[in-house]
Amino acid sequence: MKEDLFRKATFIKTAVLAKDYPVLRNRSGQLMVEIAVVGRSNVGKSSLLNDLFNSKDLVKTSSTPGKTQAINFFTVDDQFAFVDLPGYGYAQVPLKVRKQWGPMIQEYLSNRESLKVILFLFDIRRIPNQEDIELLEWIAFHQKAMILVMTKADKLNQSERSSNSKNILKAFNTENLFWTSYSTKKNIGRRELIRMILDAIKTEQE
Ligand code: GTP
Ligand code: MG
Repeated sequence: MKEDLFRKATFIKTAVLAKDYPVLRNRSGQLMVEIAVVGRSNVGKSSLLNDLFNSKDLVKTSSTPGKTQAINFFTVDDQFAFVDLPGYGYAQVPLKVRKQWGPMIQEYLSNRESLKVILFLFDIRRIPNQEDIELLEWIAFHQKAMILVMTKADKLNQSERSSNSKNILKAFNTENLFWTSYSTKKNIGRRELIRMILDAIKTEQE
């Protein structure tokens, strides 16, 4: 699957306001289905997109939280659109950016009709706090397909992964939530996530 899908990723543009979002169409002239990544700063959103795209640095990443500060649009294989969003929840991120986060995400979620799938990323070493739980619920409220992706799985061994993922799911307390674990460093989860994204798109279109 790695060879066949998500071969050609292209950066399209950065935007903050809905009026600046690109109109992205596939070869048949239809609006591209869009997939967005949401999650805490530094959780690995931009890295995961690079990994899905098999690219090293098309999406800008950093070990310092707050690297992504606006909405970045990409296309893949002239077929799908992907969106990298800024993260929430880091005190070190400038106040201006933190204040902008809620309205910017709200505007995006409520205006972007082509958005079909949200990847909610969560560090597999953490337990969700009230802020994480409220955000997941707030995003789920927008009625898009959601996949919970537990990131940085390479930081734990197999049995820690299994017990942490159970605790994370329990804390989020959402029934029927699709989820998978992922590591960009140890090549865990890519195939599975691509399959889940394609399944979610198919279900949306039925
Ligand atoms: P913001 O743009 O600030 O919201 O962060 P982000 O969620 O886009 O995170 P980014 O992809 O920039 O990665 C943050 C840090 O986590 C970087 O130092 C990455 O190298 C590291 N990282 C990302 N994915 C993984 C992973 O699977 N395993 C490990 N060990 N580190 C990872
Ligand atoms: Mg980022």
